[in-house]
Amino acid sequence: MNADIGTDLRNSIRSIPDYPKPGIVFRDITTLLGNARAFRRAVDELVQPWAGMKIDKVAGIEARGFILGGAVAHQVSAGFVPIRKKGKLPHKTVNVAYALEYGEDIIEMHADALVAGERVVLVDDLIATGGTAEAAVKLLRQLGAEVLAACFVIDLPDLGGAEKLRKLGVPVRTLIGFE
Ligand code: PRP
Ligand code: ADE
Repeated sequence: MNADIGTDLRNSIRSIPDYPKPGIVFRDITTLLGNARAFRRAVDELVQPWAGMKIDKVAGIEARGFILGGAVAHQVSAGFVPIRKKGKLPHKTVNVAYALEYGEDIIEMHADALVAGERVVLVDDLIATGGTAEAAVKLLRQLGAEVLAACFVIDLPDLGGAEKLRKLGVPVRTLIGFE
């Protein structure tokens, strides 16, 4: 018999205290990815509310958003757009700086990755402060994308990221929360 999805996914995620620095509990999805049933359920559930709608592109955030986003793109027959840390993409890029739960960074997309008006779903493994996802939404909108939704396996609701995205007018889907 199938465990309910929340329990199944929660049990498949490994929590590592004090990584990458003291006080952070790192939610490690490599154990979910290695579990065929949990991986499939996560990918199916992430875009379930948009099933059957026209989605032109799935944008995935480096690095774990590439794995989930690639699988979701295949599932919904959309193209895939990588959103990468600065300096990794070979062609002309657009970029946005953002703050992390632990540090600062810049993300980039290829300037020709999207055509204005394309319908895009953003995918990542986890939303914490929402800084990364907010920057990704700004990048997508800079290129004229219509951001249909942002989907994450894990929400850290105490850090307020999902609310931050909703205030930007982006529907947010998360599958499980950790305090
Ligand atoms: C993690 C996670 C998200 C981001 C969420 O990535 O995969 O992309 O942090 O944090 P935020 O909501 O506070 O912005 P990380 O920056 O650790 O990069 P990595 O996937 O390359 O390890
Ligand atoms: N990104 C930001 N906070 C994180 C956490 N607690 N676990 C995994 N990735 C993260």
